[in-house]
Amino acid sequence: MQTLTATYADEHLKTPIPVEGCRFHFPLLRREVNGKPLVYLDNAATSQKPQVVIDAIMKYYHEENSNIHRGVHYLSTKATEAYEQARVKVQQFINARSMQEIIYVRGTTEGINLVAATYGRTNVGEGDEVLISAMEHHSNIVPWQMLCEEKKAKLRVIPMNDAGELLLDEYEKLLTARTKIVGLAHISNALGTINPIRTMVELAHRRGIPVLVDGAQAVPHMKVDVQELDCDFYTFSSHKMFGPTGVGILYGKKALLEAMPPYQGGGDMIKSVTFEKTIYNDLPYKFEAGTPSIAGGIGLGAAIDYMNRMDMQAVAAYEKELLTYATKKLSAIAGLRIIGTAKEKASVISFVLEGIHPHDIGTILDLEGVAIRTGHHCAQPVMQRFGIPATARASFAFYNTKEEVDVLVNAIEKVKEVLG
Ligand SMILES: Cc1ncc(COP(=O)(O)O)c(C=O)c1O
Repeated sequence: MQTLTATYADEHLKTPIPVEGCRFHFPLLRREVNGKPLVYLDNAATSQKPQVVIDAIMKYYHEENSNIHRGVHYLSTKATEAYEQARVKVQQFINARSMQEIIYVRGTTEGINLVAATYGRTNVGEGDEVLISAMEHHSNIVPWQMLCEEKKAKLRVIPMNDAGELLLDEYEKLLTARTKIVGLAHISNALGTINPIRTMVELAHRRGIPVLVDGAQAVPHMKVDVQELDCDFYTFSSHKMFGPTGVGILYGKKALLEAMPPYQGGGDMIKSVTFEKTIYNDLPYKFEAGTPSIAGGIGLGAAIDYMNRMDMQAVAAYEKELLTYATKKLSAIAGLRIIGTAKEKASVISFVLEGIHPHDIGTILDLEGVAIRTGHHCAQPVMQRFGIPATARASFAFYNTKEEVDVLVNAIEKVKEVLG
């Protein structure tokens, strides 16, 4: 197990963070669970938070807590500044053209619901089609299903092969004059597949169809540039990228956002209200009704500052090395089958063990201090596609180590001894 001193971490507080030096910044990784050093391999569900994020949230509540936008007093100005600065950090982080394209939401789920309820309701009608892929998280299925039900439209699905790769030929065939929007995961949380988003966006755009990308699993692992991807909407959650829960981002191209009706009504999303008529606020506030997660936004800004100190290419390379190492080690376990073997894969390994239910794997691993996720991972259609009820899933972040992979492997061997 990697051991680093506080001095080592302090020395790097202002400097670029090398991948090997980051572990000490995450206090929770130092704790024990069930008397064993924690091996946290549930990063696809939520990531751990570095001390700087925890400190930023503490500082807000200690020194600046106040409601934003509507106050003239000192604290309100400070809180507004910090919250709006974080929005600019997000804009720069994903290379959006303007801060007006950055909408604060509760998370990826709300980002998708927002687009379905506004763009979707306005542009999808009877007989139209919404196109998603076979590997979507429920949050990129159900909002579209609800929309299709309401509008008597049809939900179509891009199929995938046995490795968990989308069939691009089928995708092209499914893009028709009836398709009104495409919704795609950048990276599958259940399989780890990295989808060729740039190509898929281009194919949709050739037919004038906008694309929403669910980036929940991508932003923590790779450099995302929304202008380069040219997607129309991109949404992600702070808590999966080392920031706090309760906040996320919806990016949308300005022209589309401007043409869309508001999502929810309330304070902050208006310019003026009379009983006869309400004039809506400018972007991005038009989509931000009510008091938001102010501490969440500020914490997300701190997480971005942290990630900006890392070389994301080095992060991606390190995670690929971990993935390769873990894939090799896990594949060598008799009776273990990896679900999701795409050529382009992020650091997620879903697997099943012959004759042993994933929940039992998870329970015994927990006794060894190893945290993984078991179940359908909010992707039941993926489970149906592979003919299994559930998988066990180990998902890695840049702070994980090869030694932790070894602990995982030994713990799986123990599961086999006990239950095999
Ligand atoms: C691919 C993907 N999309 C969407 C979500 C939903 O994210 P949230 O629960 O933060 O809204 C998740 C969460 O696991 C996910 O992995």
